[in-house]
Amino acid sequence: MEKLLRNSFMFLSRNKTLTKLAKKYGFQFGAARFVAGDTIGRATKVIKELNNQGLVVTLDHLGEFIDDKQEAEKKADHCIKTIQAIGKENLHSQISIKLTSMGLDISEDIVIENMKRILKEAQKYNIFVTIDMEDHSRCEKTLTIFKQLKKEYDNIGTVVQAYLYRTVYDMDELNKYQANLRLVKGAYKESAKVAFPEKAAVDENFKHIIKMHLLNGNFTAVATHDDEIINYTKSLVKEYNIPKNQYEFQMLYGIRSEKQLELVIEGYQVRVYVPYGDDWYGYFMRRMAERPANVAFVVKGIFRK
Ligand code: FDA
Repeated sequence: MEKLLRNSFMFLSRNKTLTKLAKKYGFQFGAARFVAGDTIGRATKVIKELNNQGLVVTLDHLGEFIDDKQEAEKKADHCIKTIQAIGKENLHSQISIKLTSMGLDISEDIVIENMKRILKEAQKYNIFVTIDMEDHSRCEKTLTIFKQLKKEYDNIGTVVQAYLYRTVYDMDELNKYQANLRLVKGAYKESAKVAFPEKAAVDENFKHIIKMHLLNGNFTAVATHDDEIINYTKSLVKEYNIPKNQYEFQMLYGIRSEKQLELVIEGYQVRVYVPYGDDWYGYFMRRMAERPANVAFVVKGIFRK
């Protein structure tokens, strides 16, 4: 049953008609639990609240799968406005970007052009930019673009996914760039040809790449809600005396908020991934797929309206 629900949510997350309808009819179905509003004004309010609690943020202006050059440029303009808002309001926030929203499915040149504009603006305000990782078919292109940009800009990092077989080899290569990486399990539905199908193998690989990246001396963001992985990281940094400024924990907005604060109280840096914008539908459906138990919350949300 759980598997069926997961697959249904993943299927729904890729539906372009539903994405358009969701944009048109606005915030629905309890999305506010995971998405910080549809405007930068609302997102700013949420970030201030999180900052006041000792949490730092990475802000994502939602949007993916753009297949029109002008749309991608408009999206980049919006990211620039987001950066300016973060800078002017003095928020403790970085930004996260999906390359499909910058035109990855149109041409790599368009992405590079858009990303350079964003990175230049971000440099002015000393804001770090992370390229999110999307599905396996876009992994190679994303890493190639990251490496190209990293040669010119030092305020850029990216993400690798523990469920992919290729990740351990990618990390060897990324080590040459001293890449600032966010390590995650992986959120997309991938075939067993490219990804570990069993949770236990994903978790083992996750631990392996955390150790590898930290011991190579690189900045490591461990992005998970899983206590086993969090506890593993805590022991590892203690054992190897890894300095606090070389790692952080990251979690998604609306998920395990008490745990986030608990870690802050223990003295760890915790960054919350805060999505905002009217293109909330695909992101929301993936969160549902990860944990069908969230459906109960959503159902309550529907009945409250
Ligand atoms: P998993 O889903 O295996 O959950 C493990 C345990 O965590 C559960 O058994 C439970 O104990 C606890 N838990 C999880 N959700 C909970 C909840 N709602 N309430 C209470 N307990 C809960 N993916 C990707 O492919 N590309 C990307 O760029 C990113 N970026 C990203 C940024 C950040 C900051 C995070 C946290 C995650 C991502 N992800 C991602 C998503 C990631 O790949 C993964 O899908 C989710 O984080 C879920 O995996 P977990 O590691 O949290 O463990």
